[in-house]
Amino acid sequence: MSDVHDYAAVGVGPANLSLAALGAGVENLRGAHFEARTSFSWHPGLLLPEATLQVSPFKDLVTPVDPTSPYSFLAFLAGEGRIYQFLTARFPAVLRTEFDQYLQWASRKIPAIEFGTEVRSVTERDGYFVIGSERGEVTARNVVLGTGQTPLVPAFLRPHLGADMFHAEEFLTRPRELSGRAVAVVGGGQSGAEIVRHLMRLAEPPLSITWITRRPGFLPMDDSPFTNEYFFPEYAREFHGLPRPRRQELLAEQKYASDGIDLDTLRDVYRERYRHECLLGRKDWLRLATRSEVTGCARLPDGWELELRGPGPTLVRADVVVLATGYEYRLPGCMSGLAHRLARTADGLVVGDDFSLSLSGETAGRVYLQNGARHAWGVADPNLSLLAWRSAVILNAILGYRRYNT
Ligand SMILES: Cc1cc2nc3c(=O)[nH]c(=O)nc-3n(C[C@H](O)[C@H](O)[C@H](O)COP(=O)(O)OP(=O)(O)OC[C@H]3O[C@@H](n4cnc5c(N)ncnc54)[C@H](O)[C@@H]3O)c2cc1C
Ligand SMILES: NC(=O)c1ccc[n+]([C@@H]2O[C@H](COP(=O)([O-])OP(=O)(O)OC[C@H]3O[C@@H](n4cnc5c(N)ncnc54)[C@H](OP(=O)(O)O)[C@@H]3O)[C@@H](O)[C@H]2O)c1
Repeated sequence: MSDVHDYAAVGVGPANLSLAALGAGVENLRGAHFEARTSFSWHPGLLLPEATLQVSPFKDLVTPVDPTSPYSFLAFLAGEGRIYQFLTARFPAVLRTEFDQYLQWASRKIPAIEFGTEVRSVTERDGYFVIGSERGEVTARNVVLGTGQTPLVPAFLRPHLGADMFHAEEFLTRPRELSGRAVAVVGGGQSGAEIVRHLMRLAEPPLSITWITRRPGFLPMDDSPFTNEYFFPEYAREFHGLPRPRRQELLAEQKYASDGIDLDTLRDVYRERYRHECLLGRKDWLRLATRSEVTGCARLPDGWELELRGPGPTLVRADVVVLATGYEYRLPGCMSGLAHRLARTADGLVVGDDFSLSLSGETAGRVYLQNGARHAWGVADPNLSLLAWRSAVILNAILGYRRYNT
């Protein structure tokens, strides 16, 4: 069939943008990439001006597997005429806003990305996959899912979601009245920390901030050299080959290698607290609740009352509640027609050593999964570190030969 694409990519965040960038360098490869948003945007609700990248900018879309690619971060800096300023500025870490600009730049240069196209269905016809959207249908031998993770909100809080109780993912996406109000931030990971720092630096800050975490403290990310080897391809392969119980043990052990708070953000929060408490005399302005799980919530006439299980006060009143409560992987709705054919274990989908899903029945190709297999590939799976490597592994599998050295 001449109109069959080699692959169709569903969702274009950094993961499938990397696939598109590496695929663009392969002759005679026909890929189609569909993104629901009208242009590229990297977690826009959390694109806080002071937030920085947690990894080296060389872990970009392409460099670890193809440093000569025209879609590297260095090519972006040179192309935008800012490489000397960038090098001279010697940023300790690249701003997320700049990395977002890089990703946007790449998304405009890479061909075959259709923005404003939400994939509604992936079905199978005559052994090929049919990708359906409002714009029609595309047929492809393979599908690469890159739809990202879904914000995680405790079930009892979901009915309360709205203007004054929302997931961190929406922090910047609509204007909010925060100054002079009591704000509670739930979650002791990087998103919670970045929001607390941001609130503390507002020209017209909140009346008070209560930062709640069920972790034993505001724990730092382990960014030390040997720990960082968990983010190497060799380690990911080793992890993938381990039996399931061992993988689960290691995930718990390695949690803070990926989900701790980076030390600079923690220091900033501490210094802001010092400034507010000691220099401005705002005692008890930032309240900290550790080992505290939010277990209930009541709507008051003028705000919220959160119920906490932990060593401190059991009730917290707030006008605004920000839920920095993390993310989880969910198979996208467009896959509902194929979901019953996918093999699973108790902790998630079965993902092979080329990131393909185990799909029963006869098809010409496969469905590959980006950023949905922490249980199978380890703490590096949702991270940028292995983005280019994983895309290269998937492309090699689609091509049937070793185009990239993985
Ligand atoms: C605020 C934040 C900052 C982060 N910073 C870092 C960092 O510094 N370093 C690091 O290593 N990791 C970081 N991460 C983790 C990880 O790198 C990011 O989550 C990254 O964006 C994951 O890329 P992705 O492409 O898998 O998913 P996403 O970025 O979530 O992209 C998925 C895309 O799929 C689209 N989509 C979904 N469904 C459909 C559909 N049916 N049809 C069409 N399109 C669809 C969405 O609109 C979205 O654009 C961060 C995570 C967060 C939340
Ligand atoms: N600038 C950046 O680079 C940047 C910015 C943001 C995020 N990220 C990355 O994105 C990933 C997600 O980060 P995240 O901070 O959004 O999520 P996260 O690391 O999963 O943190 C979620 C937090 O919410 C807590 N929590 C959940 N439910 C709770 C409840 N009912 N009561 C109290 N606490 C509750 C969790 O506790 P438990 O730990 O006990 O579950 C955890 O502390 C991480 O890998 C992070 O590094 C990067």
